[in-house]
Amino acid sequence: MAEYVIEFGKDGRPVESDGRLDAAAFHRNHAAIWAVLQPFLAGKSGDVVEAGSGTGQHVVEYARHTPDIIWWPSDLNEAHLNSIDAWRAHAGLVNIRPPLRIDLSDPAWCREMHDGSGPAKLLAVFCANVIHIAPWRVAEGLFTGAGRTLRADGRLFLYGPFKRDGKHTAVSNAVFDTSLRERDPEWGVRDIEALQELASNAGLELIETVEMPANNLTLVFARKQGE
Ligand SMILES: C[S@@+](CC[C@H](N)C(=O)[O-])C[C@H]1O[C@@H](n2cnc3c(N)ncnc32)[C@H](O)[C@@H]1O
Repeated sequence: MAEYVIEFGKDGRPVESDGRLDAAAFHRNHAAIWAVLQPFLAGKSGDVVEAGSGTGQHVVEYARHTPDIIWWPSDLNEAHLNSIDAWRAHAGLVNIRPPLRIDLSDPAWCREMHDGSGPAKLLAVFCANVIHIAPWRVAEGLFTGAGRTLRADGRLFLYGPFKRDGKHTAVSNAVFDTSLRERDPEWGVRDIEALQELASNAGLELIETVEMPANNLTLVFARKQGE
Protein backbone atom coordinates (compact mmCIF):
# COMPACT_ATOMS: atom_id res chain seq x y z
CA MET A 1 0.00 0.00 0.00
CA ALA A 2 1.18 3.51 -0.70
CA GLU A 3 2.38 5.42 2.33
CA TYR A 4 1.88 9.06 3.09
CA VAL A 5 3.83 11.60 5.05
CA ILE A 6 2.21 14.68 6.51
CA GLU A 7 5.38 16.23 7.87
CA PHE A 8 8.78 15.14 6.65
CA GLY A 9 11.37 14.96 9.43
CA LYS A 10 8.83 13.38 11.79
CA ASP A 11 8.70 10.09 9.88
CA GLY A 12 11.92 8.62 11.26
CA ARG A 13 14.00 9.45 8.20
CA PRO A 14 17.27 11.35 8.57
CA VAL A 15 17.32 15.11 9.05
CA GLU A 16 20.50 16.89 7.98
CA SER A 17 21.94 19.50 10.34
CA ASP A 18 21.09 22.24 7.83
CA GLY A 19 17.42 21.21 7.79
CA ARG A 20 17.43 19.13 4.59
CA LEU A 21 14.76 16.47 4.82
CA ASP A 22 14.57 13.28 2.81
CA ALA A 23 11.42 11.79 1.31
CA ALA A 24 11.54 8.06 0.64
CA ALA A 25 9.00 8.44 -2.19
CA PHE A 26 11.23 10.97 -3.98
CA HIS A 27 13.83 8.28 -4.69
CA ARG A 28 11.16 5.99 -6.13
CA ASN A 29 9.27 8.48 -8.27
CA HIS A 30 11.50 11.34 -9.43
CA ALA A 31 12.85 9.62 -12.55
CA ALA A 32 9.43 8.47 -13.74
CA ILE A 33 7.97 11.95 -13.21
CA TRP A 34 10.90 13.54 -15.02
CA ALA A 35 10.20 11.30 -18.02
CA VAL A 36 6.81 13.05 -18.27
CA LEU A 37 8.01 16.61 -17.57
CA GLN A 38 11.13 16.52 -19.72
CA PRO A 39 9.57 16.32 -23.21
CA PHE A 40 7.42 19.37 -22.44
CA LEU A 41 10.15 21.45 -20.78
CA ALA A 42 12.90 20.59 -23.29
CA GLY A 43 14.09 23.67 -25.13
CA LYS A 44 11.73 26.02 -23.28
CA SER A 45 12.38 28.86 -20.86
CA GLY A 46 10.12 30.45 -18.26
CA ASP A 47 8.89 30.01 -14.71
CA VAL A 48 7.67 26.80 -13.10
CA VAL A 49 5.96 26.69 -9.70
CA GLU A 50 6.00 23.47 -7.71
CA ALA A 51 2.98 23.41 -5.40
CA GLY A 52 3.47 21.54 -2.12
CA SER A 53 7.19 20.87 -2.64
CA GLY A 54 7.67 19.01 0.65
CA THR A 55 11.40 18.41 1.13
CA GLY A 56 12.37 20.33 -2.04
CA GLN A 57 14.18 17.38 -3.60
CA HIS A 58 12.12 17.28 -6.81
CA VAL A 59 12.81 20.93 -7.62
CA VAL A 60 16.54 20.49 -7.10
CA GLU A 61 16.63 17.37 -9.25
CA TYR A 62 14.67 18.93 -12.11
CA ALA A 63 16.38 22.34 -11.97
CA ARG A 64 19.71 20.61 -12.62
CA HIS A 65 18.44 19.49 -16.03
CA THR A 66 16.82 22.82 -17.02
CA PRO A 67 19.17 25.81 -16.66
CA ASP A 68 16.85 28.01 -18.77
CA ILE A 69 13.89 27.46 -16.45
CA ILE A 70 13.35 29.31 -13.16
CA TRP A 71 11.90 26.99 -10.52
CA TRP A 72 9.74 28.35 -7.69
CA PRO A 73 9.25 25.74 -4.97
CA SER A 74 6.49 26.29 -2.42
CA ASP A 75 4.80 24.82 0.63
CA LEU A 76 2.99 26.02 3.73
CA ASN A 77 4.76 23.87 6.34
CA GLU A 78 7.59 25.68 8.15
CA ALA A 79 9.94 22.66 8.37
CA HIS A 80 9.34 21.93 4.69
CA LEU A 81 10.07 25.54 3.71
CA ASN A 82 13.34 25.32 5.67
CA SER A 83 14.21 22.03 3.98
CA ILE A 84 13.50 23.43 0.52
CA ASP A 85 15.76 26.40 1.23
CA ALA A 86 18.47 24.11 2.62
CA TRP A 87 18.35 21.87 -0.47
CA ARG A 88 18.47 24.99 -2.63
CA ALA A 89 21.58 26.27 -0.81
CA HIS A 90 23.17 22.81 -0.93
CA ALA A 91 22.59 22.54 -4.69
CA GLY A 92 23.85 26.06 -5.39
CA LEU A 93 21.72 26.29 -8.53
CA VAL A 94 20.96 29.83 -9.69
CA ASN A 95 17.66 28.81 -11.30
CA ILE A 96 15.92 27.89 -8.03
CA ARG A 97 14.20 30.76 -6.23
CA PRO A 98 13.58 30.85 -2.45
CA PRO A 99 10.46 28.90 -1.53
CA LEU A 100 7.13 30.69 -1.67
CA ARG A 101 4.75 30.21 1.24
CA ILE A 102 1.72 29.10 -0.75
CA ASP A 103 -1.36 27.74 0.97
CA LEU A 104 -3.21 26.17 -1.93
CA SER A 105 -6.51 26.45 -0.12
CA ASP A 106 -6.21 30.19 -0.81
CA PRO A 107 -6.91 30.61 -4.53
CA ALA A 108 -4.73 33.75 -4.54
CA TRP A 109 -1.78 31.48 -3.57
CA CYS A 110 0.54 34.17 -2.13
CA ARG A 111 1.33 37.88 -2.19
CA GLU A 112 4.39 37.40 -4.40
CA MET A 113 2.26 36.13 -7.27
CA HIS A 114 0.50 39.51 -7.31
CA ASP A 115 3.03 42.20 -6.32
CA GLY A 116 5.68 41.49 -8.97
CA SER A 117 8.20 39.90 -6.59
CA GLY A 118 7.22 36.40 -7.73
CA PRO A 119 6.69 34.86 -11.13
CA ALA A 120 4.08 36.37 -13.44
CA LYS A 121 2.93 33.94 -16.11
CA LEU A 122 3.94 30.31 -15.65
CA LEU A 123 5.27 27.79 -18.12
CA ALA A 124 4.12 25.03 -15.79
CA VAL A 125 2.74 24.13 -12.39
CA PHE A 126 3.89 20.82 -10.96
CA CYS A 127 2.18 19.21 -7.98
CA ALA A 128 2.97 15.73 -6.66
CA ASN A 129 1.17 13.79 -3.98
CA VAL A 130 -0.63 16.73 -2.42
CA ILE A 131 -4.34 16.88 -3.20
CA HIS A 132 -5.29 13.53 -1.65
CA ILE A 133 -3.56 14.45 1.65
CA ALA A 134 -5.47 17.70 1.94
CA PRO A 135 -9.07 18.95 1.92
CA TRP A 136 -10.86 19.34 -1.41
CA ARG A 137 -10.48 23.13 -1.23
CA VAL A 138 -6.73 22.57 -1.81
CA ALA A 139 -7.50 20.98 -5.18
CA GLU A 140 -9.88 23.86 -5.88
CA GLY A 141 -7.20 26.44 -5.05
CA LEU A 142 -4.61 24.60 -7.10
CA PHE A 143 -6.76 24.69 -10.23
CA THR A 144 -7.96 28.27 -9.71
CA GLY A 145 -4.38 29.48 -9.30
CA ALA A 146 -3.11 27.44 -12.23
CA GLY A 147 -5.91 28.73 -14.43
CA ARG A 148 -5.03 32.30 -13.50
CA THR A 149 -1.26 32.02 -13.87
CA LEU A 150 -0.47 29.54 -16.66
CA ARG A 151 0.73 30.97 -19.97
CA ALA A 152 -1.24 30.23 -23.12
CA ASP A 153 1.07 27.26 -23.78
CA GLY A 154 1.42 26.34 -20.07
CA ARG A 155 0.72 23.00 -18.42
CA LEU A 156 -0.38 21.75 -15.02
CA PHE A 157 1.22 18.40 -14.14
CA LEU A 158 -0.57 16.59 -11.34
CA TYR A 159 1.02 13.39 -10.03
CA GLY A 160 -0.46 10.91 -7.57
CA PRO A 161 -3.09 8.21 -7.17
CA PHE A 162 -6.48 8.94 -8.76
CA LYS A 163 -9.86 7.28 -9.24
CA ARG A 164 -11.22 6.80 -12.76
CA ASP A 165 -15.01 6.99 -13.25
CA GLY A 166 -15.36 6.92 -9.49
CA LYS A 167 -13.45 3.62 -9.20
CA HIS A 168 -10.03 2.91 -7.78
CA THR A 169 -7.46 1.73 -10.31
CA ALA A 170 -5.98 -0.81 -7.87
CA VAL A 171 -6.92 -2.52 -4.63
CA SER A 172 -3.88 -0.96 -2.98
CA ASN A 173 -5.22 2.51 -3.84
CA ALA A 174 -8.60 1.63 -2.28
CA VAL A 175 -6.84 0.57 0.93
CA PHE A 176 -4.75 3.73 0.82
CA ASP A 177 -7.88 5.84 0.34
CA THR A 178 -9.51 4.25 3.39
CA SER A 179 -6.44 4.97 5.50
CA LEU A 180 -6.45 8.60 4.35
CA ARG A 181 -10.15 9.08 5.13
CA GLU A 182 -9.73 7.45 8.55
CA ARG A 183 -7.02 9.94 9.30
CA ASP A 184 -9.09 12.88 8.04
CA PRO A 185 -12.55 12.61 6.46
CA GLU A 186 -11.71 15.59 4.23
CA TRP A 187 -8.79 13.72 2.61
CA GLY A 188 -8.99 11.02 -0.02
CA VAL A 189 -7.92 9.79 -3.45
CA ARG A 190 -9.55 12.16 -5.94
CA ASP A 191 -11.68 11.29 -8.91
CA ILE A 192 -10.36 12.38 -12.31
CA GLU A 193 -13.83 13.47 -13.47
CA ALA A 194 -14.21 15.78 -10.44
CA LEU A 195 -10.80 17.27 -11.21
CA GLN A 196 -11.82 17.79 -14.83
CA GLU A 197 -14.75 19.85 -13.57
CA LEU A 198 -12.41 22.01 -11.48
CA ALA A 199 -10.14 22.33 -14.50
CA SER A 200 -12.99 23.38 -16.74
CA ASN A 201 -14.08 26.06 -14.26
CA ALA A 202 -10.50 27.37 -14.36
CA GLY A 203 -10.34 27.41 -18.16
CA LEU A 204 -8.22 24.25 -18.33
CA GLU A 205 -8.74 20.79 -19.79
CA LEU A 206 -7.16 17.38 -19.33
CA ILE A 207 -5.02 16.65 -22.38
CA GLU A 208 -3.06 13.59 -21.25
CA THR A 209 -3.21 10.84 -18.64
CA VAL A 210 0.10 9.07 -18.16
CA GLU A 211 0.32 5.70 -16.38
CA MET A 212 3.03 5.78 -13.73
CA PRO A 213 4.65 3.09 -11.56
CA ALA A 214 2.88 1.89 -8.40
CA ASN A 215 -0.63 2.62 -9.69
CA ASN A 216 -0.07 6.35 -9.91
CA LEU A 217 -0.92 8.67 -12.78
CA THR A 218 0.29 11.99 -14.06
CA LEU A 219 -2.57 14.17 -15.28
CA VAL A 220 -1.58 16.90 -17.73
CA PHE A 221 -3.85 19.93 -18.07
CA ALA A 222 -3.61 22.72 -20.64
CA ARG A 223 -5.66 25.79 -21.47
CA LYS A 224 -8.95 24.93 -23.14
CA GLN A 225 -8.76 25.32 -26.90
CA GLY A 226 -9.87 28.81 -27.88
CA GLU A 227 -9.55 30.31 -24.36
C1 LIG B 1 2.94 14.01 0.79
S1 LIG B 1 3.69 15.56 0.77
C2 LIG B 1 4.34 15.62 -0.91
C3 LIG B 1 5.51 16.52 -1.02
C4 LIG B 1 6.21 16.54 -2.37
N1 LIG B 1 5.36 17.09 -3.38
C5 LIG B 1 6.68 15.18 -2.75
O1 LIG B 1 6.12 14.59 -3.68
O2 LIG B 1 7.62 14.70 -2.12
C6 LIG B 1 2.35 16.72 0.74
C7 LIG B 1 2.82 18.16 0.78
O3 LIG B 1 1.69 19.01 0.62
C8 LIG B 1 1.84 20.10 1.50
N2 LIG B 1 0.54 20.70 1.71
C9 LIG B 1 -0.49 20.22 2.46
N3 LIG B 1 -1.50 21.08 2.47
C10 LIG B 1 -1.12 22.14 1.71
C11 LIG B 1 -1.73 23.38 1.36
N4 LIG B 1 -2.94 23.70 1.82
N5 LIG B 1 -1.04 24.22 0.58
C12 LIG B 1 0.21 23.92 0.15
N6 LIG B 1 0.83 22.76 0.46
C13 LIG B 1 0.18 21.90 1.23
C14 LIG B 1 2.46 19.50 2.75
O4 LIG B 1 3.07 20.46 3.58
C15 LIG B 1 3.46 18.53 2.11
O5 LIG B 1 4.69 19.15 1.88
